Amino acid sequence: MRILLTGGAGYIGSHTALAVLDAGHEPVLLDNFSNSVPDVVDRLGEIAGRPLTIVNGDVRDPGLVRSTLAAERIDAVIHFAASKAVAESVADPLSYYANNVGGTLAVLEAMEAEGVRSFVFSSSATVYGGPQRLPLDEDHPTQAVNPYGQTKLMCENMLMDLVRADRGWRASILRYFNPVGAHSSGLIGEEPTGIPNNLMPLVTRAALGEIDRLQVYGTDYPTPDGTAVRDYIHVVDLARGHVAALDALGKGEALQLYNLGTGRGTSVLELIAAFVQATGASVPHVTAARRPGDVAAMYAAVGKAERELGWRTMHDLAQMCADSWRFATRPK
Ligand SMILES: NC(=O)c1ccc[n+]([C@@H]2O[C@H](COP(=O)([O-])OP(=O)(O)OC[C@H]3O[C@@H](n4cnc5c(N)ncnc54)[C@H](O)[C@@H]3O)[C@@H](O)[C@H]2O)c1
Repeated sequence: MRILLTGGAGYIGSHTALAVLDAGHEPVLLDNFSNSVPDVVDRLGEIAGRPLTIVNGDVRDPGLVRSTLAAERIDAVIHFAASKAVAESVADPLSYYANNVGGTLAVLEAMEAEGVRSFVFSSSATVYGGPQRLPLDEDHPTQAVNPYGQTKLMCENMLMDLVRADRGWRASILRYFNPVGAHSSGLIGEEPTGIPNNLMPLVTRAALGEIDRLQVYGTDYPTPDGTAVRDYIHVVDLARGHVAALDALGKGEALQLYNLGTGRGTSVLELIAAFVQATGASVPHVTAARRPGDVAAMYAAVGKAERELGWRTMHDLAQMCADSWRFATRPK
């Protein structure tokens, strides 16, 4: 199959491009480089041993998406392109609705017009809001607690309506937990253009001395060591989950929905300890008050993806840390 990856130069998209190639499909990337650098595409080519096709542009340009779908004879789309920083979404909600909801709508309209009706969507565990029970299964009620989460829920709802209205559509909604790690080559990984939003890039920056100390927000949560617990998943496992979801699109329900996580919760202090153990680096850190809006613990029920997609994670926390560090310390 020929697969269009919107946001394909980004963190998860770039790793998925390699997983798509590994599975014998042809990835075509479309990115406006608003949160990535064109150089990623060269590095992907280096890993793949041949150049990959990249279209430079915005998913909200309907002419561009339509012409790409047609010219590249695309069979299915994995839609990663979005803005993802929660705090920024609170400060600037309209740009989040425009890019995330407007972008998804524009891609779906272009697909409808070109008769491409197979779609995999990057959603997030953030759509569960504060957990009412753990682990979080796919039937857990959803609730957006910030504009970013709201945009993901709106896109999920748009897809559900679309599939209900037209049985020709097949869609898979993937709710990611906390992606970390990097490709084993050390050539691609998470490289946010601004201040990192996620924990692991802050851990590596603290270990590199690029920030003075990592702030550990909240030490009085009802968790074993008092710090917040999350479900960290290696980005290469997450990438493989997309291929499994693509393969399942033609089978079973027209609308599929899966958590992609490991099912294991790890606290901030456990993550720091695992990082120190795996890399030998030290991570200067200080404790700080809880951040408003953070929840104590989130981790996935992963049985549905394991059963129905035949997918399971293969990398442990030590590998996540070692691979993140290899990428952070690569020769630049
Ligand atoms: N990384 C996470 O922690 C996480 C967790 C849950 C869900 N997600 C979702 O997964 C997807 C990918 O996340 P990521 O971590 O790879 O982010 P990322 O920022 O690294 O990648 C997104 C890519 O999309 C591109 N992009 C953004 N808006 C665009 C537009 N209008 N047109 C074309 N390209 C555009 C960016 O330049 C970037 O390369 C996003 O939808 C994100 O919301 C990420």
